[in-house]
Amino acid sequence: MTKEETAEQLSALKAQYSLYENRPFDLTIARGIPSTDQLKLSEALLNETPIKKWYSEDELDIRNYGGLFGIREARALFGQMMETSVDETFVGGNSSLQLMYATLNHFMFTADTPWSREEKVKFICPSPGYDRHWFMLDHMGIEMIPVELTGEGPDMEVVEKLVSQDPAVKGMFVVPTYNNPTGETVSDEVVEQLANMHTAAEDFIILWDNAYVVHHLNGVKEKAANLLEACKAAGSPDRVIQYVSTSKMTLPGAGVAAMGASEARIKELALEFSKQLISFDKINQMRHVLFLKDMETIEAHMEKHAEILAPKFEWIDAILSAYFSGDRSSFVSWTRPNGGYFVHLTTQNGCATEIVAKMKHIGIELTPANAAYPYGINPKDNSIRLAPSFARMDDLEIAMEALCICIELVTLEKNNEE
Ligand SMILES: Cc1ncc(COP(=O)(O)O)c(C=O)c1O
Repeated sequence: MTKEETAEQLSALKAQYSLYENRPFDLTIARGIPSTDQLKLSEALLNETPIKKWYSEDELDIRNYGGLFGIREARALFGQMMETSVDETFVGGNSSLQLMYATLNHFMFTADTPWSREEKVKFICPSPGYDRHWFMLDHMGIEMIPVELTGEGPDMEVVEKLVSQDPAVKGMFVVPTYNNPTGETVSDEVVEQLANMHTAAEDFIILWDNAYVVHHLNGVKEKAANLLEACKAAGSPDRVIQYVSTSKMTLPGAGVAAMGASEARIKELALEFSKQLISFDKINQMRHVLFLKDMETIEAHMEKHAEILAPKFEWIDAILSAYFSGDRSSFVSWTRPNGGYFVHLTTQNGCATEIVAKMKHIGIELTPANAAYPYGINPKDNSIRLAPSFARMDDLEIAMEALCICIELVTLEKNNEE
Protein backbone atom coordinates (compact mmCIF):
# COMPACT_ATOMS: atom_id res chain seq x y z
CA MET A 1 0.00 0.00 0.00
CA THR A 2 1.28 3.49 -0.80
CA LYS A 3 1.25 6.20 1.89
CA GLU A 4 -1.79 7.83 0.28
CA GLU A 5 -3.67 4.54 0.09
CA THR A 6 -2.91 3.85 3.75
CA ALA A 7 -4.13 7.31 4.76
CA GLU A 8 -7.34 6.81 2.77
CA GLN A 9 -7.94 3.39 4.29
CA LEU A 10 -7.27 4.75 7.79
CA SER A 11 -9.83 7.50 7.41
CA ALA A 12 -12.43 4.98 6.15
CA LEU A 13 -11.72 2.74 9.16
CA LYS A 14 -11.95 5.68 11.57
CA ALA A 15 -15.31 6.66 10.06
CA GLN A 16 -16.57 3.10 10.56
CA TYR A 17 -15.23 3.03 14.12
CA SER A 18 -16.96 6.29 15.02
CA LEU A 19 -20.25 4.75 13.86
CA TYR A 20 -19.64 2.03 16.44
CA GLU A 21 -18.80 4.70 19.04
CA ASN A 22 -22.10 6.43 18.43
CA ARG A 23 -24.06 3.20 18.92
CA PRO A 24 -22.01 1.09 21.33
CA PHE A 25 -22.78 -2.62 21.76
CA ASP A 26 -23.20 -4.58 24.97
CA LEU A 27 -21.49 -7.88 24.19
CA THR A 28 -18.94 -10.18 25.73
CA ILE A 29 -16.73 -12.88 24.30
CA ALA A 30 -14.46 -12.80 27.31
CA ARG A 31 -14.94 -16.04 29.26
CA GLY A 32 -15.24 -19.63 28.16
CA ILE A 33 -18.60 -20.57 29.58
CA PRO A 34 -21.24 -22.79 27.95
CA SER A 35 -24.21 -21.13 26.27
CA THR A 36 -27.77 -21.60 27.52
CA ASP A 37 -28.42 -24.06 24.67
CA GLN A 38 -25.52 -26.17 25.91
CA LEU A 39 -26.81 -26.09 29.48
CA LYS A 40 -30.14 -27.39 28.22
CA LEU A 41 -28.37 -30.56 27.06
CA SER A 42 -27.95 -31.50 30.72
CA GLU A 43 -31.38 -30.59 32.07
CA ALA A 44 -32.13 -34.32 32.11
CA LEU A 45 -29.41 -34.67 34.73
CA LEU A 46 -31.80 -32.97 37.14
CA ASN A 47 -35.22 -33.78 35.69
CA GLU A 48 -34.92 -37.28 34.32
CA THR A 49 -32.21 -39.01 36.33
CA PRO A 50 -33.92 -40.29 39.45
CA ILE A 51 -31.65 -41.96 41.97
CA LYS A 52 -33.32 -45.25 42.82
CA LYS A 53 -30.68 -46.78 45.02
CA TRP A 54 -28.93 -45.09 47.86
CA TYR A 55 -25.99 -47.47 48.11
CA SER A 56 -22.97 -47.30 45.84
CA GLU A 57 -21.15 -50.34 44.44
CA ASP A 58 -18.77 -50.14 47.40
CA GLU A 59 -21.75 -50.05 49.76
CA LEU A 60 -21.57 -46.43 50.79
CA ASP A 61 -24.87 -44.83 51.72
CA ILE A 62 -24.65 -41.85 49.38
CA ARG A 63 -27.01 -39.86 51.62
CA ASN A 64 -24.58 -40.00 54.49
CA TYR A 65 -21.01 -38.95 55.32
CA GLY A 66 -18.16 -41.17 54.14
CA GLY A 67 -16.34 -42.20 51.00
CA LEU A 68 -13.86 -39.35 50.73
CA PHE A 69 -12.27 -40.89 47.60
CA GLY A 70 -15.63 -40.86 45.80
CA ILE A 71 -18.11 -43.65 45.11
CA ARG A 72 -16.65 -46.61 43.26
CA GLU A 73 -18.74 -46.23 40.09
CA ALA A 74 -17.75 -42.54 39.78
CA ARG A 75 -14.09 -43.45 40.28
CA ALA A 76 -14.43 -46.04 37.53
CA LEU A 77 -16.13 -43.60 35.14
CA PHE A 78 -13.63 -40.78 35.66
CA GLY A 79 -10.88 -43.40 35.52
CA GLN A 80 -12.02 -44.18 31.97
CA MET A 81 -11.74 -40.50 31.05
CA MET A 82 -8.27 -40.21 32.59
CA GLU A 83 -7.08 -43.75 31.73
CA THR A 84 -6.44 -44.48 35.41
CA SER A 85 -7.51 -47.43 37.59
CA VAL A 86 -10.10 -47.02 40.36
CA ASP A 87 -7.31 -46.86 42.97
CA GLU A 88 -5.56 -44.17 40.94
CA THR A 89 -8.72 -42.03 40.78
CA PHE A 90 -10.12 -39.59 43.35
CA VAL A 91 -13.52 -38.02 42.73
CA GLY A 92 -14.11 -34.72 44.48
CA GLY A 93 -16.52 -31.82 44.41
CA ASN A 94 -17.69 -29.44 41.75
CA SER A 95 -14.39 -27.89 40.62
CA SER A 96 -11.10 -29.23 39.28
CA LEU A 97 -9.48 -25.86 40.03
CA GLN A 98 -10.22 -26.45 43.69
CA LEU A 99 -8.44 -29.83 43.49
CA MET A 100 -5.44 -28.13 41.88
CA TYR A 101 -5.40 -25.44 44.53
CA ALA A 102 -5.53 -28.07 47.29
CA THR A 103 -2.65 -29.93 45.63
CA LEU A 104 -0.48 -26.82 45.54
CA ASN A 105 -1.48 -25.93 49.07
CA HIS A 106 -0.38 -29.40 50.21
CA PHE A 107 3.03 -29.15 48.58
CA MET A 108 3.52 -25.61 49.84
CA PHE A 109 2.53 -26.14 53.48
CA THR A 110 1.79 -29.68 54.64
CA ALA A 111 3.97 -32.07 52.62
CA ASP A 112 6.88 -33.83 54.38
CA THR A 113 9.26 -31.16 53.05
CA PRO A 114 7.01 -28.14 52.43
CA TRP A 115 8.11 -25.84 49.65
CA SER A 116 7.23 -22.78 51.75
CA ARG A 117 10.30 -23.47 53.89
CA GLU A 118 12.52 -22.86 50.89
CA GLU A 119 13.73 -19.44 49.90
CA LYS A 120 12.16 -19.50 46.45
CA VAL A 121 9.64 -21.69 44.67
CA LYS A 122 9.29 -21.45 40.89
CA PHE A 123 6.88 -22.96 38.38
CA ILE A 124 7.11 -23.36 34.64
CA CYS A 125 4.15 -21.76 32.89
CA PRO A 126 3.62 -22.84 29.28
CA SER A 127 2.30 -19.72 27.61
CA PRO A 128 -0.14 -18.63 26.35
CA GLY A 129 -1.95 -20.60 29.05
CA TYR A 130 -4.89 -20.45 31.43
CA ASP A 131 -4.97 -17.23 33.46
CA ARG A 132 -6.58 -18.88 36.50
CA HIS A 133 -3.54 -21.19 36.82
CA TRP A 134 -1.34 -18.12 36.93
CA PHE A 135 -3.59 -16.39 39.50
CA MET A 136 -3.31 -19.47 41.73
CA LEU A 137 0.49 -19.59 41.56
CA ASP A 138 0.79 -15.86 42.10
CA HIS A 139 -1.54 -16.07 45.11
CA MET A 140 0.75 -18.68 46.67
CA GLY A 141 3.82 -16.56 46.09
CA ILE A 142 5.25 -18.98 43.51
CA GLU A 143 7.45 -17.31 40.90
CA MET A 144 6.23 -17.96 37.37
CA ILE A 145 8.58 -18.65 34.48
CA PRO A 146 6.89 -18.40 31.09
CA VAL A 147 7.94 -20.98 28.48
CA GLU A 148 6.62 -20.67 24.94
CA LEU A 149 4.30 -23.29 23.49
CA THR A 150 5.32 -24.76 20.15
CA GLY A 151 2.01 -26.11 18.79
CA GLU A 152 2.81 -29.53 20.31
CA GLY A 153 3.18 -28.48 23.94
CA PRO A 154 5.87 -26.53 25.80
CA ASP A 155 9.29 -25.89 24.28
CA MET A 156 11.04 -28.89 25.84
CA GLU A 157 14.57 -27.65 25.24
CA VAL A 158 13.85 -24.71 27.54
CA VAL A 159 11.88 -26.84 30.03
CA GLU A 160 14.62 -29.47 30.31
CA LYS A 161 17.26 -26.83 30.92
CA LEU A 162 15.22 -25.11 33.63
CA VAL A 163 14.19 -28.25 35.53
CA SER A 164 17.58 -29.94 35.38
CA GLN A 165 19.55 -26.94 36.64
CA ASP A 166 17.39 -25.22 39.23
CA PRO A 167 16.06 -27.13 42.29
CA ALA A 168 13.73 -24.19 43.03
CA VAL A 169 11.72 -25.14 39.93
CA LYS A 170 9.15 -27.36 41.60
CA GLY A 171 6.58 -27.95 38.95
CA MET A 172 4.58 -26.93 35.92
CA PHE A 173 1.01 -26.66 34.72
CA VAL A 174 0.08 -28.26 31.40
CA VAL A 175 -3.31 -28.31 29.64
CA PRO A 176 -2.50 -31.36 27.51
CA THR A 177 -5.53 -31.60 25.24
CA TYR A 178 -6.81 -28.54 23.36
CA ASN A 179 -4.89 -26.06 25.49
CA ASN A 180 -6.65 -22.97 26.79
CA PRO A 181 -6.23 -20.77 24.74
CA THR A 182 -4.07 -22.12 21.87
CA GLY A 183 -6.07 -25.32 21.28
CA GLU A 184 -2.93 -27.40 20.83
CA THR A 185 -2.48 -30.95 22.11
CA VAL A 186 0.78 -32.19 23.62
CA SER A 187 2.55 -34.59 21.25
CA ASP A 188 3.59 -38.14 22.19
CA GLU A 189 7.23 -37.09 22.02
CA VAL A 190 6.70 -34.27 24.54
CA VAL A 191 4.81 -36.66 26.87
CA GLU A 192 7.85 -38.99 26.80
CA GLN A 193 10.21 -36.08 27.46
CA LEU A 194 8.10 -34.83 30.39
CA ALA A 195 8.14 -38.30 31.93
CA ASN A 196 11.85 -38.90 31.41
CA MET A 197 13.46 -35.51 32.03
CA HIS A 198 15.87 -35.18 34.92
CA THR A 199 14.65 -32.70 37.51
CA ALA A 200 16.92 -31.08 40.09
CA ALA A 201 13.95 -30.93 42.51
CA GLU A 202 13.12 -34.43 43.73
CA ASP A 203 9.54 -33.38 44.47
CA PHE A 204 8.90 -31.86 41.03
CA ILE A 205 5.25 -32.24 39.94
CA ILE A 206 3.25 -31.74 36.77
CA LEU A 207 -0.35 -30.54 37.15
CA TRP A 208 -1.89 -32.10 34.03
CA ASP A 209 -5.15 -30.19 33.66
CA ASN A 210 -7.07 -32.24 31.10
CA ALA A 211 -10.11 -29.95 31.20
CA TYR A 212 -10.89 -30.48 27.50
CA VAL A 213 -10.13 -34.19 27.16
CA VAL A 214 -13.50 -35.06 25.55
CA HIS A 215 -14.30 -31.64 24.10
CA HIS A 216 -13.87 -32.25 20.38
CA LEU A 217 -15.32 -29.83 17.85
CA ASN A 218 -15.19 -31.87 14.65
CA GLY A 219 -14.28 -35.33 13.42
CA VAL A 220 -10.62 -34.96 14.38
CA LYS A 221 -10.31 -36.30 17.93
CA GLU A 222 -7.05 -35.34 19.59
CA LYS A 223 -5.94 -36.72 22.93
CA ALA A 224 -2.61 -36.38 24.67
CA ALA A 225 -0.90 -39.67 25.53
CA ASN A 226 -1.13 -41.07 29.06
CA LEU A 227 1.53 -39.24 31.07
CA LEU A 228 0.97 -41.33 34.20
CA GLU A 229 1.83 -44.53 32.31
CA ALA A 230 4.86 -42.83 30.74
CA CYS A 231 5.99 -41.64 34.20
CA LYS A 232 5.58 -45.14 35.64
CA ALA A 233 7.69 -46.57 32.82
CA ALA A 234 10.32 -43.86 33.43
CA GLY A 235 10.47 -44.65 37.16
CA SER A 236 8.84 -41.36 38.22
CA PRO A 237 5.25 -42.50 38.95
CA ASP A 238 4.52 -39.68 41.41
CA ARG A 239 5.45 -36.89 39.02
CA VAL A 240 2.03 -36.26 37.49
CA ILE A 241 -1.42 -35.44 38.84
CA GLN A 242 -4.19 -35.27 36.27
CA TYR A 243 -7.41 -33.28 36.63
CA VAL A 244 -10.73 -33.40 34.79
CA SER A 245 -14.25 -32.17 35.46
CA THR A 246 -17.73 -32.18 34.01
CA SER A 247 -17.93 -28.37 34.18
CA LYS A 248 -18.20 -28.11 30.39
CA MET A 249 -19.95 -31.45 29.95
CA THR A 250 -22.95 -30.93 32.24
CA LEU A 251 -23.47 -27.89 34.48
CA PRO A 252 -20.52 -25.73 35.53
CA GLY A 253 -20.58 -25.19 39.27
CA ALA A 254 -22.93 -28.15 39.71
CA GLY A 255 -20.70 -30.82 38.17
CA VAL A 256 -18.10 -33.25 39.43
CA ALA A 257 -14.30 -33.02 39.33
CA ALA A 258 -11.68 -35.76 39.63
CA MET A 259 -7.95 -36.32 39.88
CA GLY A 260 -5.83 -39.20 38.66
CA ALA A 261 -2.35 -40.09 39.91
CA SER A 262 -0.29 -42.94 41.32
CA GLU A 263 -2.01 -44.74 44.18
CA ALA A 264 0.53 -43.28 46.60
CA ARG A 265 -0.15 -39.71 45.47
CA ILE A 266 -3.90 -40.22 45.62
CA LYS A 267 -3.61 -41.45 49.20
CA GLU A 268 -1.34 -38.53 50.12
CA LEU A 269 -3.74 -35.96 48.65
CA ALA A 270 -6.79 -37.67 50.17
CA LEU A 271 -5.16 -37.26 53.57
CA GLU A 272 -4.87 -33.55 52.82
CA PHE A 273 -8.59 -33.42 51.99
CA SER A 274 -9.48 -35.37 55.11
CA LYS A 275 -8.40 -32.32 57.09
CA GLN A 276 -10.77 -30.11 55.10
CA LEU A 277 -14.01 -32.09 54.87
CA ILE A 278 -15.63 -35.43 55.67
CA SER A 279 -16.81 -36.25 52.16
CA PHE A 280 -17.88 -34.62 48.90
CA ASP A 281 -21.36 -34.66 47.36
CA LYS A 282 -21.85 -38.36 46.57
CA ILE A 283 -25.43 -37.80 45.42
CA ASN A 284 -24.19 -35.59 42.62
CA GLN A 285 -21.50 -38.15 41.82
CA MET A 286 -24.22 -40.84 41.51
CA ARG A 287 -26.41 -38.56 39.39
CA HIS A 288 -23.49 -37.97 37.03
CA VAL A 289 -22.75 -41.69 36.78
CA LEU A 290 -26.37 -42.39 35.89
CA PHE A 291 -26.43 -39.57 33.32
CA LEU A 292 -23.00 -39.95 31.69
CA LYS A 293 -22.83 -43.77 32.11
CA ASP A 294 -19.76 -44.69 30.02
CA MET A 295 -17.37 -43.33 27.39
CA GLU A 296 -19.81 -44.06 24.57
CA THR A 297 -22.57 -42.03 26.24
CA ILE A 298 -20.09 -39.26 27.07
CA GLU A 299 -18.95 -39.07 23.46
CA ALA A 300 -22.53 -38.91 22.17
CA HIS A 301 -23.30 -36.15 24.71
CA MET A 302 -20.19 -34.19 23.74
CA GLU A 303 -21.16 -34.42 20.07
CA LYS A 304 -24.31 -32.49 20.92
CA HIS A 305 -22.14 -29.78 22.49
CA ALA A 306 -19.99 -29.76 19.37
CA GLU A 307 -23.05 -29.27 17.15
CA ILE A 308 -23.75 -26.03 19.01
CA LEU A 309 -20.14 -24.89 19.35
CA ALA A 310 -18.58 -25.80 16.01
CA PRO A 311 -20.51 -23.25 13.87
CA LYS A 312 -19.15 -20.45 16.10
CA PHE A 313 -15.58 -21.57 15.53
CA GLU A 314 -16.23 -22.01 11.81
CA TRP A 315 -17.69 -18.51 11.61
CA ILE A 316 -14.66 -16.97 13.33
CA ASP A 317 -12.33 -18.72 10.92
CA ALA A 318 -14.43 -17.77 7.90
CA ILE A 319 -14.63 -14.06 8.74
CA LEU A 320 -10.96 -13.77 9.68
CA SER A 321 -9.91 -15.67 6.53
CA ALA A 322 -12.05 -13.44 4.33
CA TYR A 323 -10.90 -10.19 5.94
CA PHE A 324 -7.23 -10.88 6.51
CA SER A 325 -6.18 -12.08 3.08
CA GLY A 326 -3.89 -10.42 0.51
CA ASP A 327 -2.39 -7.13 1.79
CA ARG A 328 -3.81 -7.70 5.24
CA SER A 329 -2.64 -11.28 5.75
CA SER A 330 0.29 -10.24 7.95
CA PHE A 331 -1.94 -8.32 10.38
CA VAL A 332 -3.01 -11.31 12.44
CA SER A 333 -2.82 -15.10 12.61
CA TRP A 334 -5.24 -17.33 14.49
CA THR A 335 -5.75 -20.92 15.62
CA ARG A 336 -8.22 -23.40 14.10
CA PRO A 337 -8.64 -25.79 17.02
CA ASN A 338 -10.15 -29.25 16.72
CA GLY A 339 -11.53 -28.95 20.24
CA GLY A 340 -11.69 -26.91 23.42
CA TYR A 341 -13.26 -23.52 23.95
CA PHE A 342 -10.97 -20.90 22.48
CA VAL A 343 -9.45 -19.27 19.42
CA HIS A 344 -6.12 -17.55 19.98
CA LEU A 345 -5.12 -14.54 17.90
CA THR A 346 -1.52 -13.49 17.40
CA THR A 347 -1.50 -9.85 16.34
CA GLN A 348 1.47 -7.81 15.15
CA ASN A 349 3.77 -6.94 18.05
CA GLY A 350 2.60 -4.05 20.21
CA CYS A 351 -1.02 -4.15 18.99
CA ALA A 352 -3.02 -6.50 21.24
CA THR A 353 -3.64 -4.16 24.20
CA GLU A 354 -4.86 -1.35 21.96
CA ILE A 355 -7.15 -3.67 19.96
CA VAL A 356 -8.81 -5.00 23.12
CA ALA A 357 -9.14 -1.42 24.49
CA LYS A 358 -10.77 -0.25 21.25
CA MET A 359 -13.24 -3.14 21.42
CA LYS A 360 -14.06 -2.32 25.05
CA HIS A 361 -14.64 1.31 24.15
CA ILE A 362 -17.42 0.28 21.74
CA GLY A 363 -19.00 -2.11 24.26
CA ILE A 364 -17.46 -5.46 23.28
CA GLU A 365 -15.58 -7.19 26.06
CA LEU A 366 -12.73 -9.53 25.25
CA THR A 367 -10.41 -11.33 27.68
CA PRO A 368 -7.74 -8.75 28.63
CA ALA A 369 -4.89 -8.76 26.11
CA ASN A 370 -1.97 -10.98 27.17
CA ALA A 371 -3.93 -12.41 30.14
CA ALA A 372 -2.74 -15.83 29.03
CA TYR A 373 0.80 -14.91 30.12
CA PRO A 374 1.98 -15.09 33.76
CA TYR A 375 1.45 -11.72 35.51
CA GLY A 376 -0.34 -10.64 32.30
CA ILE A 377 3.10 -9.70 30.96
CA ASN A 378 3.87 -10.45 27.34
CA PRO A 379 6.69 -8.28 25.99
CA LYS A 380 5.42 -8.84 22.45
CA ASP A 381 1.92 -7.56 23.33
CA ASN A 382 0.45 -9.77 20.61
CA SER A 383 -1.92 -12.20 22.36
CA ILE A 384 -5.73 -12.08 22.30
CA ARG A 385 -8.04 -14.89 23.39
CA LEU A 386 -11.51 -15.26 21.90
CA ALA A 387 -14.09 -17.21 23.87
CA PRO A 388 -17.06 -17.61 21.52
CA SER A 389 -19.08 -20.27 23.36
CA PHE A 390 -21.50 -18.07 25.29
CA ALA A 391 -22.33 -15.53 22.57
CA ARG A 392 -25.32 -15.97 20.28
CA MET A 393 -24.40 -16.43 16.61
CA ASP A 394 -25.77 -13.02 15.57
CA ASP A 395 -23.86 -11.27 18.37
CA LEU A 396 -20.72 -13.15 17.44
CA GLU A 397 -21.05 -11.95 13.85
CA ILE A 398 -21.29 -8.32 15.03
CA ALA A 399 -18.36 -8.75 17.41
CA MET A 400 -16.14 -10.35 14.75
CA GLU A 401 -16.87 -7.65 12.18
CA ALA A 402 -15.97 -4.97 14.74
CA LEU A 403 -12.87 -6.92 15.74
CA CYS A 404 -11.63 -7.05 12.14
CA ILE A 405 -12.03 -3.26 11.87
CA CYS A 406 -10.19 -2.72 15.18
CA ILE A 407 -7.33 -5.05 14.22
CA GLU A 408 -6.84 -3.32 10.88
CA LEU A 409 -7.16 0.17 12.38
CA VAL A 410 -4.65 -0.45 15.19
CA THR A 411 -2.19 -2.28 12.92
CA LEU A 412 -2.24 0.44 10.24
CA GLU A 413 -1.89 3.20 12.85
CA LYS A 414 1.04 1.39 14.43
CA ASN A 415 2.75 0.81 11.08
CA ASN A 416 2.11 4.43 10.11
CA GLU A 417 3.89 5.65 13.25
CA GLU A 418 7.01 3.60 12.51
C1 LIG B 1 -7.84 -25.35 31.48
C2 LIG B 1 -9.00 -25.20 32.42
N1 LIG B 1 -8.96 -25.84 33.59
C3 LIG B 1 -9.97 -25.74 34.48
C4 LIG B 1 -11.07 -24.96 34.21
C5 LIG B 1 -12.16 -24.85 35.23
O1 LIG B 1 -12.48 -26.12 35.70
P1 LIG B 1 -13.48 -26.38 36.90
O2 LIG B 1 -14.78 -25.76 36.58
O3 LIG B 1 -13.54 -27.87 36.98
O4 LIG B 1 -12.86 -25.79 38.15
C6 LIG B 1 -11.16 -24.28 32.98
C7 LIG B 1 -12.30 -23.42 32.69
O5 LIG B 1 -12.28 -22.59 31.81
C8 LIG B 1 -10.08 -24.41 32.07
O6 LIG B 1 -10.08 -23.77 30.90
